[in-house]
Amino acid sequence: MEKIKIFIISGQDELKNMITGALTHVEYILLAGQAVNTAEALAFAETDEADVILVDASVEGDGYRLAESLSARCPETALIILESRLQEEVMRRAIFSGAKDVLIYPFSPAKLIDSIYRSYQSMKKAHQRRAQSSPRQRKKFQQGQLAVVFSTKGGVGKTFLATNLAFALAKENSARVVLVDLDLDFGNASLALDIAPRYTISDVVNEIANLDRDLMESFLIPHPSGIWMLAANVQPRMNEFINGEHVETIIKLLQSSFDYVVVDMPARFSPILDPVFQMSNLLLLVTTPEVSAIRNLKACLNTLDSLNFAANKIRLVLNKAGLCADIRTKDVEATLGQPLFGTLPLDIKLVTDSMNKGIPLGRLYPRSKVNRSVENIAGKIARGGAAV
Ligand SMILES: Nc1ncnc2c1ncn2[C@@H]1O[C@H](COP(=O)(O)OP(=O)(O)OP(=O)(O)O)[C@@H](O)[C@H]1O
Ligand SMILES: [Mg+2]
Repeated sequence: MEKIKIFIISGQDELKNMITGALTHVEYILLAGQAVNTAEALAFAETDEADVILVDASVEGDGYRLAESLSARCPETALIILESRLQEEVMRRAIFSGAKDVLIYPFSPAKLIDSIYRSYQSMKKAHQRRAQSSPRQRKKFQQGQLAVVFSTKGGVGKTFLATNLAFALAKENSARVVLVDLDLDFGNASLALDIAPRYTISDVVNEIANLDRDLMESFLIPHPSGIWMLAANVQPRMNEFINGEHVETIIKLLQSSFDYVVVDMPARFSPILDPVFQMSNLLLLVTTPEVSAIRNLKACLNTLDSLNFAANKIRLVLNKAGLCADIRTKDVEATLGQPLFGTLPLDIKLVTDSMNKGIPLGRLYPRSKVNRSVENIAGKIARGGAAV
């Protein structure tokens, strides 16, 4: 079950103990931390995220002012003011500070939990409404760009690149981005974004005869980062009931709603996915600096050539650069016969942490070299790096 992350700001030990005691055993609530003053509270808001912040109105003599700053800095966090007295002035100040609720202490554990739950739900609904109302309104291009991340070798970082590229494209130019997991049998892009998919591509295929833009959008899962996702089926053997026409319909509808459709692919060609290659504006082929991966990519380029795939859509990405000291960028370029579009350094610690936590690097480690490299690729695409 998804947990509601709480942060408490108060200088009163008695009040904090009461709250901690009331919440410790509630399994869907996670006490993420505490602050005793404004400086600590703002430092927390800069670095971390809470779903609900409890602000003691007596903090440094004016908790309302702090609440105002917090609601400006963390617009997606619900604030609850903790007050000792109920007066008209208190309510007015609470409303203008952007708080969702006011609790007059001492309060019962049930009242506290109820307030947290309601404030959280109300914030979440408002966020979903904002997100859901926007794909078409904010769409910039007539037809969304289709960026496909592929390799015929497993484990080179397709999923890592696809998820983080989607996030970076959305951040780069506030574009509407949908990530589609077309690794139909073993897709795990939802894990990389910590999404428990309510709907998957199999729900879409079940409705294929009725599918229009609105119905298509209703199967997408919003991610707090602002991107959307169409998840792969949770059970393998999808290819028994999905075909190329279904895939084409789905991609076309998504292109009509989003600025970018980023596709995470399996490590093989398959007739079902032929339309994805045909429709793509950009094919990002990923390799690592290993002889087997580079040979594999060379063979993949030959296959694409024999299928008459347009060479000007191909962009090569070297991932895990530095993994093998003997193989340098220029060796990779010489072997593959074309320049690299992007290079992502090997960073086992940060990438593993981001993938395990299901938080994009751009959010978890925005200043890391590997994130900067993903952003560099996103920037080139946004500036027109996508051919045709
Ligand atoms: N730049 C990097 N530095 C360190 N580790 C990385 C990097 N990129 C990817 N990885 C790690 O490599 C592993 C494979 O990555 P990923 O799942 O993205 O590959 P994939 O090509 O999608 O694999 P598959 O073909 O199985 O779908 C993961 O454990 C991931 O954390
Ligand atoms: Mg993958």
